[in-house]
Amino acid sequence: MLKFSSMTGNEIRNKFLTYFERNGHKIVASSPLLPANDPTLLFTNAGMNQFKDVFLGNEKRDYKRAVTSQKCIRAGGKHNDLDEVGKTARHHTFFEMLGNFSFGDYFKEDAIKYAWEFLVDELKLEKSRLWFSVFEGDDEVGPDEEARDLWIKVGASPDRVLGFGRKVNFWQMGDTGPCGPCSEVHYYMGDDPLDPQKNRAEFVNGPGDTTMEIWNLVFMQYNRTQNEDGTFALTPLPAPSVDTGMGLERIAAVMQNVKTNYETDLIKPIVEYTASLAKVK
Ligand code: SER
Repeated sequence: MLKFSSMTGNEIRNKFLTYFERNGHKIVASSPLLPANDPTLLFTNAGMNQFKDVFLGNEKRDYKRAVTSQKCIRAGGKHNDLDEVGKTARHHTFFEMLGNFSFGDYFKEDAIKYAWEFLVDELKLEKSRLWFSVFEGDDEVGPDEEARDLWIKVGASPDRVLGFGRKVNFWQMGDTGPCGPCSEVHYYMGDDPLDPQKNRAEFVNGPGDTTMEIWNLVFMQYNRTQNEDGTFALTPLPAPSVDTGMGLERIAAVMQNVKTNYETDLIKPIVEYTASLAKVK
């Protein structure tokens, strides 16, 4: 059985915002779902969208750390979840993303320290249920051994830190824009975390919903641009930065000990109300 007490979606959102505010982050409101001044995006697909020019060094703000709960739509473009909706328990076209951001301030070490502290000390998640992924490197960008070492330094067991390729562990907003290697936290939601047959590395980015990604930490280091001949180039950002994103509905499913996001207090009342209007169960 899970040992922590249940929290509502609103309580989780609030805990996230105030935890990062205590750690020097400015709470910034969610930006509109239609991104302003960005022809590369149809809908806002991540918390970092409203900070794109800050990452690129084209815009200065009076803060270097921010925290948001961003409304997102992923129904087209590079991050398109439409084909997964209804097939998995965890994908939605519309969802809310909790994120902390550093604009040339802290980098990998503090990003990983904050993530660990929030999950283990604040939310009191069991360490034996957590898995971590890091970029294993390819021809363009080398392996992120630093992230691996940092997870182990904060307390992760080395066998729970796994390497993956570009598809899951290198994040970019669209075909162009800020990007970098990323590191994800995955959570085993099954009954017995000590059963090695159930709580297994193969389920991280593997089949089923029992082990699911809850948080993505992007180490923003590059800008991807398109050359006139159509090829793409990678140039370093003015300062290494951090962009993280945790699905509010996913962490709510974890905290409320339910099997799907649809059973959380964020979505279930909407389903029930709709069912009552339609007079169906
Ligand atoms: N931008 C990253 C993502 O959407 C982290 O927020 O996963």
